This record gives sequence, structure tokens and C-alpha cells, in this order.
Amino acid sequence: MVKIGRHFLQIPGPTNVPDRVLRAIDQPTIDHRGPDFAELGKAVVAGMKRVFQTTGPVVIFPSSGTGAWEAALVNTLSPGDRVLAFETGHFATLWHAMAKRLGLEVDFVPTDWRHPVDPAEVEARLNADKAHIIKAVMVVHNETSTAVTSDVPAVRAAIDRARHPALLLVDTISSLASIEYRHAAWGVDVTVGGSQKGLMLPPGLSFNALSTKALAASKQAKLPRAYWDWQPMLAAAETGFFPFTPATNLLFGLREAILMLEEEGLDNVFARHARLAEATRRAVRAWELELLSLDAKAHSNSLTAVLLPGGHDADAVRQVVLDRFDMSLGTGLGKVAGKVFRIGHLGWFNELMLIGTLGGVEMGLALAGVPHRRGGVDAAMSYLAGNVRAEAQR
Ligand SMILES: Cc1ncc(COP(=O)(O)O)c(C=O)c1O
Repeated sequence: MVKIGRHFLQIPGPTNVPDRVLRAIDQPTIDHRGPDFAELGKAVVAGMKRVFQTTGPVVIFPSSGTGAWEAALVNTLSPGDRVLAFETGHFATLWHAMAKRLGLEVDFVPTDWRHPVDPAEVEARLNADKAHIIKAVMVVHNETSTAVTSDVPAVRAAIDRARHPALLLVDTISSLASIEYRHAAWGVDVTVGGSQKGLMLPPGLSFNALSTKALAASKQAKLPRAYWDWQPMLAAAETGFFPFTPATNLLFGLREAILMLEEEGLDNVFARHARLAEATRRAVRAWELELLSLDAKAHSNSLTAVLLPGGHDADAVRQVVLDRFDMSLGTGLGKVAGKVFRIGHLGWFNELMLIGTLGGVEMGLALAGVPHRRGGVDAAMSYLAGNVRAEAQR
């Protein structure tokens, strides 16, 4: 089929890459041992510190986010160490499985995949661990499979109330540069990030932001590490270089993406995501469909997971939307496969892109025969146009 106009890439990452970033990437590759590279290397590390909101070290890997998960674990922990993790969804489950494969003992707290991490549970578990056997608490800030955001400062406060020395490791792969996140102020020890979501880049870069405590832990940690070792990266970063061949052209893109985020202002980036997410949720409610996320304080601002009525296949909706309107929506993952579809509204994304997206979903629901009320797009438009009161009276 001939395709006209832009594909709508509304999965929750990889996200749409801005033309400016594409043009920045589209440059001749430079000598990664030369002076121009040093300038680029220093600029992107400094810029990522501002994005993570820290003055501490940031390590950039040429990998998908999974690599930065592994780096967070192998640099801070030793074989047989106990860690505490929460089954908030598919990605938390994968990270916990990786920890087990690496030889860690994981206390994996089950949830219903519809709620965030419960800080009271963190506190109770750590209070019960009088011998301080638990070495780290692993939290996925924004669970991309469920569209539920956990409250990282509340988890930090719970650890502090328990006076427990465990490290706090946080995955921000689908929240960084879209949902408020402050590595230093929130007392996180290792933050894990990826390039392909809020940072508006193609996949291929991942990040660790480190605390002083994480650095100290890395001196004692005994899990085997080679490629993912922070130390050679940190030593080289002083000079702007990498110990191996970096993803040069993605770093050109990263420099441009950081510039764009800072032109808009990080707080405005967060506010834009919050506004677009609220408009999306209003559309879902107007359709009389259910959000997978049940806790209003934990609704994600980077994506929305829509739960279909029993007996209706979410992938059939996705398929019809792709076939008829050339738009990709996120599939249900793990336990919610076939039950939910996910609307990505993060990264390089604005109000009219959202209205197009919601229009495609509303038409797709009708074509797939999913029972719903019309008017989701109207509800979103009323909200975005500031006509909230009229919407409430409707
Ligand atoms: C929250 C979260 N963590 C981890 C990952 C894994 O990252 P990657 O696929 O880049 O390896 C993803 C990917 O979507 C994610 O959304």
C-alpha cells in the first residue's frame, strides 16, 4: 500500500525523532580520538547531568536501556547479594529476572500491575531487615507496560525512615525528560535511562547517573563486569573521550536533543507531558473505557494504557489502526497482552499530534467493534482548548 504523509509512531518509545535531531545525526562521522570529539563528549555528559538534575557522574553507553540496567547492578552489587524489587509490570519483571541471572537474590513483591510501588511496603520490608542484608531497592519509575508512575521521593523517604543503608536504583527509561525526575534531590544512587523515549533520539544510547554512595559501592562490588564497568568510562570522561568506540552520530543527536529540551525548559517539558496525558485520559473516560492504572496519583504522563472490555482483543484494535491509518500503538506486554493497548504521548509531541492520535484510536475502536461512546476526541479538544468547564457540564 502506498503511504502518504507521516507514519504516526505512537508507541511509548521509540518515539518520533525531531527533524533537528535527524539533521544533527546526519553528519560525517568524526575521529572519536580527535579534539572535536572531546568537545562533543564533554558537552553531552554535562548536558545529561542537567537532564538527570545532578552534578554527579553520568555514564553513557552505546546500548539499549537493558545494558544500563545491567551496568547498574554489576557495578554496585556482589554475587548472592539480596535486593528488593516490585512487580509493577513487565519491565520490573524483566529487571528482576536479570538480577536473578546475575546471581542476586531478589525479594520480588507482587502487585496487580495496576498500582505503583507502595512506600509503606518498602519501609516494612527494610524495617524487618535488621541485619541489613538487603543491599539495594530496585524501582521502575514509570512502568511502561502499565502506564503507572511510582513516587520515587516517597520510596526514598521510606528507606530513610527505616534508617536502612540499601542503595536506591531507579529505571527512568520511559520517564526521563518527560516526567519530573531529580536524581540528586531525590537521593537516588543509580538512575538508569535510555535514548529512545523522552530524549527524542533513536534507540542506541543508555545512561547511568551515579551518587557518591554508588561510586563507593562500585569499589567493593564483586559481580563480574567488563564492558559495563563504570571505572574506565569515568576515567575517560574527564577528557571527553570513551574507552571504546562511542556511538558518535547518536551523540550528535543527543547534543541537539538536550539543546531542544533546554530551549523549552525542563519544567515546561514536564508540564506539556502532563497536559497531553490528562487530555488522553479524558478521551479514554469519554469513550467509557477503563484505564489500566487505578491510582489517580500514579497515572503516567508519558503513556496511557487502555483496558478493553472482556472478550475484545486489544491487538485487533492496534492492527486496524495500523492498516487503516498508518499509526502504531503499543501492544500489551506480559500479563496484560491482548487486554490493553498503549498510547505513547511522550517526546517530540504536541497537541495536534495528540488529536490526530486520538482520532485514529476512536475510529479504530469503531472499526474493531469495541463497545464505546463517541466523543473522546471532543473531550480531549475541550480540555486542550481550556474549555474544561463546558466539558464538565456536558
Ligand atoms: C521502563 C523500561 N525499562 C526498561 C526497558 C528496556 O529498555 P531497552 O528496550 O531499551 O533495552 C524499557 C523499554 O521499553 C522500558 O520501558
